Amino acid sequence: MTFTSRYRPLTPSGRGARITDRRLTDLSVQEIRDLVDEYQWLAFQENPVTADEVVDCLGRLGRLVENDRRQGAVLKLDGSRKDEVLLGEGFMPLHRDGALMGMNVALVGIYCAQHQDVTGGRTFISDIESATREVPREYLDLIRERGIEGRPVDRYYTKAADTWHRIPGFLDVEGKSYLNAGFPYRPGEKPSWLVRIPGVDDARAQAIFEEMRSVLMNERYCYYHEWREGDLLLLDNRRTLHGREAFRGRRALANIQVMAA
Ligand SMILES: [Fe+2]
Repeated sequence: MTFTSRYRPLTPSGRGARITDRRLTDLSVQEIRDLVDEYQWLAFQENPVTADEVVDCLGRLGRLVENDRRQGAVLKLDGSRKDEVLLGEGFMPLHRDGALMGMNVALVGIYCAQHQDVTGGRTFISDIESATREVPREYLDLIRERGIEGRPVDRYYTKAADTWHRIPGFLDVEGKSYLNAGFPYRPGEKPSWLVRIPGVDDARAQAIFEEMRSVLMNERYCYYHEWREGDLLLLDNRRTLHGREAFRGRRALANIQVMAA
């Protein structure tokens, strides 16, 4: 079954679909895979499902990530850890889930369980396949050749905070190569992680990331999701990068990750 052109894309570059006529639980495993392959991310709205239904449904797509940071398969992101960024309210730059943990996460589901008196906090998803065509070739070559290195700051990450962890600059998925960089924080922002490009001084690395950021986060390629209670975002974690704006208010998201086969 194909869904070609059934949904109007969420970016001018042709990715993303807002789905209001069906619930996640109405779709077969194959239908979900087909939709994700075509659109790269799906925003289910207006037909709330429960977090348990999301876990059940995503569990049919592959093995769900479970670790001691999670309750079962669910990582609760409710802004309650004011001393941390990821589990607090801070800005999260473009990244791929699992990169710093060394895990190959194929799909990420983010479900909104609570949303009251919230300002800010849009989740953004970038169509990096299209956007990187506008990034200077020399930057992409540099990142492909050197890779990047990341270091956790938040206690959430299971990797040691006192060493730099190597992350490949590109990731191959079914014959195509996708930028795999977690982006650094800007000077003065409270970081969840640190990023560097081996052998490149900090000022130049910041300038390179800043120029890439301005393309990847441009609305031609990047979708900004305004959350409502009951919304579910399902995103291809390897063909896209995503992040989150800082927020204030009572908000609880549930993050569920499906490992690659
Ligand atoms: Fe994430």
